[in-house]
Amino acid sequence: MGAKLVPLQNIKHFTNKEMESKSANFYKTMKQRRTVRDFANNDISRSIIENCILTAGTAPSGANMQPWHFAVSRYGEARKIIRRAAEKEEREFYSSKASPEWLKALEPLGTDANKEFLETAPYLIGIFVKNYGMLPDGTRVKHYYATESVGIATGILITALHNAGLATLTHTPSPMGFLNKIFKRPKNERPFLLLVAGYPEKEAQVPDIQKFSLNEISSYIE
Ligand SMILES: Cc1cc2nc3c(=O)[nH]c(=O)nc-3n(C[C@H](O)[C@H](O)[C@H](O)COP(=O)(O)O)c2cc1C
Repeated sequence: MGAKLVPLQNIKHFTNKEMESKSANFYKTMKQRRTVRDFANNDISRSIIENCILTAGTAPSGANMQPWHFAVSRYGEARKIIRRAAEKEEREFYSSKASPEWLKALEPLGTDANKEFLETAPYLIGIFVKNYGMLPDGTRVKHYYATESVGIATGILITALHNAGLATLTHTPSPMGFLNKIFKRPKNERPFLLLVAGYPEKEAQVPDIQKFSLNEISSYIE
């Protein structure tokens, strides 16, 4: 069966000047994004999170398989369980599993095994990679570039949350297998990361770190 094509909607041609200003303004907005580790417990309506997840779902994906799942936990008992499980893994990580090199890389961030934010932030979003799809009759559907696709969708989710005015923390308890059980996700899904979202605490502080310059991160060829 051939592809069914429809006209591309909303084709816009901005002038170079407009694009320069749009791109510079967006850079200004995104430059303000920082990973936050101290969250306020203000509630945030679910519809905002839903809009951001819908935005993430617009991401491109290998063969349009959309191999992602966003499992949301909004306060509640599950949070205590997630915190306990994550802190257990983290204690092992910091005390024995992490290589000296890895611990050295984490030093400027001042992170440790205490993960209070897992209970204070209003939203935890468990992001899962579907290694393969499942039809209702149990047949497996092959997925292509699933990890890359979910990484892109996650980037868009973080961008959408920041654009909405929310702070995030990309959290990767290691290992993360416990997230399947807590979020009740099937075995074809692999935890990718846990995204914490909410308002930063009033007194929140962030590590004093810098981003690489344009020259360091890009190059051009003729
Ligand atoms: C894949 C990934 C995993 C991360 N895991 C953790 C984590 O487990 N705990 C944490 O405190 N920060 C984690 N971070 C946040 C990084 O430390 C942070 O993005 C980096 O230091 C740059 O700071 P910025 O996000 O404020 O620019 C992670 C970020 C990424 C992209």
